[in-house]
Amino acid sequence: MGKVVVMDHPLIKHKLTFIRDKNTGSKEFRELVKEVAMLMAYEVTRELPLEEIEIETPVAKTKSQIISGKKLGIIPILRAGLGMVEGMLNLLPAAKVGHIGLYRDPETLEPVEYYCKLPTDVEERELIVLDPMLATGGSATAAINFLKDRGANNIKLMCLIAAPEGIEAVQKAHPDVDIYVAAVDEKLNDHAYIVPGLGDAGDRLFGTK
Ligand code: URA
Repeated sequence: MGKVVVMDHPLIKHKLTFIRDKNTGSKEFRELVKEVAMLMAYEVTRELPLEEIEIETPVAKTKSQIISGKKLGIIPILRAGLGMVEGMLNLLPAAKVGHIGLYRDPETLEPVEYYCKLPTDVEERELIVLDPMLATGGSATAAINFLKDRGANNIKLMCLIAAPEGIEAVQKAHPDVDIYVAAVDEKLNDHAYIVPGLGDAGDRLFGTK
C-alpha cells in the first residue's frame, strides 16, 4: 500500500488557514496555493536519488552531492491543478509539465479525458500528479489510470486537502502511488465537497464564482 504523508508543518498549516477562509480573494488565494505547493515540493522530493560529484570550492577540492539524472514530470489535473504548478517549478525548474483534462460524463458519471498532453518519455519519469482537492478520488484515480495506460510506472499524488474517502479510493485503485497532502479533512458533503475544505478550488483560483 502506498504511504500517505500529511505535511503538517506550521508554515503550511498557517497558509492553509488563509486558503480555507472564504474572505480570502483570488489574488491572495493563488499566491498562497503557490507557496504551499512550493513547501510541499520539498517533502515530495525527499527520496530523489543523489550522486556525488567532484567540485572545487575557493578553498579545496571536495566531493559533493547533486540530484542524479532523475527526470521529473509535473502533471496538473485541469483546471485547479494549474494553481500548484508554479510553486513546484520554482523548486524543480527542470521538470517537464504534462496536462490532463477530465470531465464527468453526466450519464455514466465516469471521468472522461478531454485533454492530455504529456512529456514523450513519460515511462522514464517520476510523475507528480497535482490536484488541490482529493474529494471522491474519481479524478485522481482516472488521471493515474490514463498515465499508466501511457506507460507511466512511477507516480506520486500531491493534494492540498483530502477527504478520507478520496484517500481510500486512490489507495484501493493504485496501491503503488504515494499520496502527499497538507491536510486530511473530516468528510464529503452530499455535493461531494470536502468539509470543511475550501470550497471550489478552481473557482477560487480563477475568480469564476
Ligand atoms: N473539488 C473542489 O474544488 N472542492 C471540493 O471540496 C471538492 C472537489
